[in-house]
Amino acid sequence: MTQTNYRPRRSCLYMPASNSRALEKAKSLAADTIIFDLEDAVAPDAKDDAREQACAALQSGAYGNRELVVRINATDTPWFAQDLKKACRSGADAVLVPKILSAEDIVTISDLMDEYDAARNSKLWAMIEMPLAILNLPQIAALGTQKRLTGFVMGFNDLAKEMHADHDRANFASVMTQTVIAARAYGIEVIDSVYNDFNDPDGLEAECLEARRLGFDGKSLIHPVQIETANRIFAPQAEALAEAEAIIAAFRDPVNAGKGVIVVDGKMTELLHLKQARQLVATAAAIEALAK
Ligand code: COA
Ligand code: MG
Repeated sequence: MTQTNYRPRRSCLYMPASNSRALEKAKSLAADTIIFDLEDAVAPDAKDDAREQACAALQSGAYGNRELVVRINATDTPWFAQDLKKACRSGADAVLVPKILSAEDIVTISDLMDEYDAARNSKLWAMIEMPLAILNLPQIAALGTQKRLTGFVMGFNDLAKEMHADHDRANFASVMTQTVIAARAYGIEVIDSVYNDFNDPDGLEAECLEARRLGFDGKSLIHPVQIETANRIFAPQAEALAEAEAIIAAFRDPVNAGKGVIVVDGKMTELLHLKQARQLVATAAAIEALAK
């Protein structure tokens, strides 16, 4: 079956909610998802103003069909309750919660979202950035089928700090694979971490390519200059699309009617490849629709 409710999340741009120029600029940026950050990018003294600014921006209706997410402060901070309450009533598509540790965190936050009257379709996204979250990944991900949880966002700045590790992607390779598998087991979207050196497009492109190969849906970004790369790399590639269209056409050919396995361009091609091909074409169509 082809997934029909697919929404592109190739580029998920963080924006400090305290930065009114960034808030303004984001209205015209081609990011699939905008993340209004109330956490790491906002100084303690600016938290209350940032929350107000984010909510006003979210309610303005000025961000078109971009997906809008609020990253609130962690559950053990003095800002959490107010952040969550306001985020739930802001009309955001999702609330992103940092420093998630366990399945219990997800249950608590998801239930609080109900209590705070979040719209039925408001989602919960979890930062995967704490060692305990990684140990608890299967239990956390399993809630994707029951609670509001629909997204994972990797946070390697915090994870490196918590692991006492260098900020070297090689240190996170197994975590990336584990997270993608846990996410896919329960239908959760999965977004790669940020690339801090925003003046290095080649480095960003290499990380996007790696993440795409591993199965990530997109990359979180910190600067507008990074959007084009992520949008390009996480979109279906021309060659893959041509191959998908050839597979769809081959299965449609009456000579292949009723067959489960055929040969397309010299390669064994099964019904599962047809499903994948349809998915890819649907993804390309969703991206095209977003641009309209
Ligand atoms: N979202 C939207 N607009 C942004 C932006 C962002 N993340 N980062 C920069 N811009 C805007 C600036 O406001 C500026 O707009 P202007 O042309 O209207 O003046 C323009 O893009 C160019 O910005 P630039 O001068 O190159 O960047 P900077 O030096 O002001 O800021 C950072 C650099 C890294 C501080 C800034 O990009 C940033 O805050 N990024 C997000 C950080 C974040 O959210 N971190 C948390 C998650 S890890
Ligand atoms: Mg962080």
